[in-house]
Amino acid sequence: MQAVGVVGLGTMGAGIAEVCLAAGHEVRAYDGFEEARERGLERIRRGFARRVEKETMTQADADDALARLTPCAALADLADCDLVIEAVAEIPDVKHELFAELGRLAKADAVLATNTSAISVTGIAEASGRPDRVVGLHFFNPAPVMRLVEVVRTPHVDPQVYADAIAFAEGLDKEAVPCPDTPGFLVNRVLVPMLNDAVRTFVETGADPADLDRALKAGAGWPMGPLALIDLIGVDVQMHASQAIADGLGDPHYAPHPLLAEMVEQGRLGRKTGAGFHEYESAP
Ligand code: CAA
Repeated sequence: MQAVGVVGLGTMGAGIAEVCLAAGHEVRAYDGFEEARERGLERIRRGFARRVEKETMTQADADDALARLTPCAALADLADCDLVIEAVAEIPDVKHELFAELGRLAKADAVLATNTSAISVTGIAEASGRPDRVVGLHFFNPAPVMRLVEVVRTPHVDPQVYADAIAFAEGLDKEAVPCPDTPGFLVNRVLVPMLNDAVRTFVETGADPADLDRALKAGAGWPMGPLALIDLIGVDVQMHASQAIADGLGDPHYAPHPLLAEMVEQGRLGRKTGAGFHEYESAP
């Protein structure tokens, strides 16, 4: 799978594109919104500048990687990709329409992958019209740093396509973990309710957010505190992921804490808007 298309250049799409470029792939990067596309491309360039600064990559290798990046203004530009990874908004209709279009325009032997964390991969696969060639490739934020990719298997997927998807993720130097297509897959089914419990604890104890985060870092070995982690993931993403798992399992235990909806209403989405449980000065 040499040529990879990435659809949607937000935080996740840009991170995934960076990881694929760093692993030697050609990447065609598409976002239908010009401003989002430019922001995503800038994020990818910053990612390579960071690698050079940290001396994990030479300037020549970073230049070589960026030379393999082709920005695309039309989805049809991804028609000859071997693999297309979708990372657009977590809205079922949007994903289904996109996969129907990808099913029409991608070459016959292409593999189509979704980075969804909360929507049924089986439903997305069925919308594509070629469900045997669709998998979930679920990356974690920040994609260039986090080692895991959950490789999500549906009942429809061709075993060879699935094996190729695992090999692809391993080729990115990621930990590829097979997952069934169940709500929240493996990580979010554990992590999302833990983060809701952190919000509940914050509300019920009136603890300072920085203290709660410091406590979980120093007392439970979390690399960052849970409220800071919600800010990184996005308060809206945490809310939608919780709701999707609750709906999928029919279990209100997983429902989002009501404070999350209030914060979304106020535009406090976390790092991406400069404020969430904490305040942020610089763009991520
Ligand atoms: N992009 C690229 N590199 C980044 C980065 C980013 N956005 N943020 C941090 N880094 C790099 C830093 O440059 C640094 O690199 P070096 O070690 O080479 O110096 C390294 O990561 C560590 O960063 P920092 O020293 O600044 O800070 P840290 O030690 O706190 O690490 C972190 C930052 C890697 C994000 C770490 O706190 C962490 O692992 N946090 C947990 C993140 C997590 O759980 N993510 C999963 C969220 S759930 C999800 O994504 C699924 C979903 O469906 C919602």
